[in-house]
Amino acid sequence: MITYRQLFIFLLFFKGLFAGEVSAQIYRPSAAIEERVLSLLDDMTLEEKIGQLTLYTTDWGATGPTIREGYKNDIRSGACGNLFNSHTVGFVRELQRIAVEETRLKIPLLFGFDVIHGYKTIFPIPLGEAASWDLAAIEKSARVGATEASAAGLNWTFAPMVDISRDPRWGRVMEGAGEDTYLGCRIAEARVRGIQGPKIGNTDAMLACVKHYAAYGAPLAGRDYNTVDMSERFFREYYLPPYEAAVRAGAATVMTSFNDYDGVPATGNKYLMTDILRKEWGFRGFVVTDYTSINEMVNHGVIANEKEAGELALNAGVDMDMQGAVYQRFLAQSVREGKVSEILVDEAVRRVLRLKFELGLFENPYKFCDETREKTELLSAPHRTAAREVSRKSIVLLKNEKNVLPLKKTAKIALVGPLADNKTELIGNWNGAGNSNDCISVLEGLRAQTKAEVLFESGCEFFVAKNGGLEAARALAQQADVVVAVVGEQAMMSGEAAARADISLPAVQEDMVLELIKTGKPVIVILMNGRPLALPKIAENAAAILETWWLGTEAGNAIADVVYGDYNPSGKLPMTFPRSVGQVPVFYNERNTGRPYDPNSKWTSRYIDSPNSPQWPFGFGLSYTTFGYTEPKPDKAVFKKGETLQIAVTVSNTGSVDGEEVVQLYVRDLVGSVTRPVKELKGFQKVLLRAGESKKLTFKLNEHDLSFFRRDMTFGVEPGEYEIMVGGNSGDLKRVKVRMTE
Ligand code: NOJ
Repeated sequence: MITYRQLFIFLLFFKGLFAGEVSAQIYRPSAAIEERVLSLLDDMTLEEKIGQLTLYTTDWGATGPTIREGYKNDIRSGACGNLFNSHTVGFVRELQRIAVEETRLKIPLLFGFDVIHGYKTIFPIPLGEAASWDLAAIEKSARVGATEASAAGLNWTFAPMVDISRDPRWGRVMEGAGEDTYLGCRIAEARVRGIQGPKIGNTDAMLACVKHYAAYGAPLAGRDYNTVDMSERFFREYYLPPYEAAVRAGAATVMTSFNDYDGVPATGNKYLMTDILRKEWGFRGFVVTDYTSINEMVNHGVIANEKEAGELALNAGVDMDMQGAVYQRFLAQSVREGKVSEILVDEAVRRVLRLKFELGLFENPYKFCDETREKTELLSAPHRTAAREVSRKSIVLLKNEKNVLPLKKTAKIALVGPLADNKTELIGNWNGAGNSNDCISVLEGLRAQTKAEVLFESGCEFFVAKNGGLEAARALAQQADVVVAVVGEQAMMSGEAAARADISLPAVQEDMVLELIKTGKPVIVILMNGRPLALPKIAENAAAILETWWLGTEAGNAIADVVYGDYNPSGKLPMTFPRSVGQVPVFYNERNTGRPYDPNSKWTSRYIDSPNSPQWPFGFGLSYTTFGYTEPKPDKAVFKKGETLQIAVTVSNTGSVDGEEVVQLYVRDLVGSVTRPVKELKGFQKVLLRAGESKKLTFKLNEHDLSFFRRDMTFGVEPGEYEIMVGGNSGDLKRVKVRMTE
């Protein structure tokens, strides 16, 4: 057995024979990747190695991306081995050409980009897609995004974002899958599968990047970038699993988060980057920082200067520096001073090179630069069809008094609201290379599906009244059978650096809706927003409410499909909607406490001025039909530890139209060595039931499903009594008890 060091010395000697020559081996496809990586590594100077650990962005100009001359020189000298925000075939090809023709070692560049919910064909924002609870649809959306982006020069996306969040004030809830760990894990896996496809190395596969590791979704007060402080127990139980699920699904890269965890910024946190990620989970890809997050550790106050921040990061296990230029400026010096071992630098470089080889970039650095693919794939008809399909599945029907929806195609509509004839906002935040002009507005969508009149008047702006607007909207309402009000946030009100202390609808919009309700015409509210909103008055007074998030390119068509009943809504909330911001954080899987809520007793865990219950609970969503559930039936009332428990339930479509239902299974461990959640999602199935049809569904629970971090922090089960709950939302469940024995 030769050691890595011996191999290194041998290679140094070997290199001497060909001094100054780039080893032919790096291009020899028949050798194993690891061999090629080592061989190439041996040809590299320390500065060139650090170049592979450096990632820079382009600058966006009015007509497209540009890259500063300084960066071009960095590419040429080998000081910058990776770029982001550079896309479109022509632009990427030119930059890649510099890397593979003008650098000494000819190492191709990685090209990263935030392809979060589509590249050119824009899909619903991730929180919206999560509301579909349709893993195949979510995977498909990621697949289409990767297919398009990889046709435009890109080979790496900064997705999926898997941060669990219970705080709708935090603007970035729009990018994730909501509040639940189980649903979050399944969606994280689906997105990784979609992005990377069957195999990294395929021409339409990109590297995924799980972010933001870790616990970025739990900033105090919901303020972006803020401190995270929670117990290790809550961290491991609620926040950590989706990152692990994504890594185990094969995600090639991981991004650090901006926040600290237990007092140590994630970017310098060895416990997270090495102990958990690499040692516990066996992650073999590379870790990239978030934007300048090495530098920001100085502001965090855990390190005195940027040079030492770089040392902290690299020693913690962080491989690539995004935009901070810390590694580029200081790492070589740190190595010379012995503050960072070159062996660690080599390991980081190997992780990066390995993926460049796996992508096949050494064989063909232009494999993602195919003008024909770029022309045919982007915004293709099948991609638009897929987007419409996912979009309508993402819509959640929150209220439908007297079955006012679906509308008959003969209904005369008064369409109002600042979002009714708007395209700009529909692509939401993090909209890739999406172009609002490609979107179908609600007005267009409705008009395309009806011959009846759709009268339009915005009525107000986003935040301010419009001269005569309200009067005009009222007049329109009087002439119509029904009012459809399309209201909500602007896209940039959620996403990064977009926390809100007030999560209600902008007042002018809410007032307009309430005024129109006074006309006596049924008012259907179509919400567009990137987070749960608190809108109790609208919830109480509107005739119907559809949560449509930001649906992307096909928004208007998908909304019209639902409004007219061509598609029966099947979405369920992936995040609790509070009654007021004062209830935040409000989430379904809470602990019982010693004084659980009792509305009739003051001395319980409650508010004196609000019910504890949210406006709409996690998992909630109506349909144009109704569903009935039998009691859940376990295959045994008592089961042994290690045995699988099966729970059967029959679900019936008791209404008169076909519909899909998301059947949800929750579990409660009634007595544990530590407090346990009052319910935890452990399974779901989305089923189509024809009108009048019944289906028997079976869920399986194994030992792992019932395991948790016990008093001593070991992960496992504790025999005893469990409650199993099944239903169509977390607030309305049928229950049965079972017992696990040793
Ligand atoms: C900062 C964001 O936090 C991250 O999600 C994103 O991927 C990077 N910027 C790159 O755009």
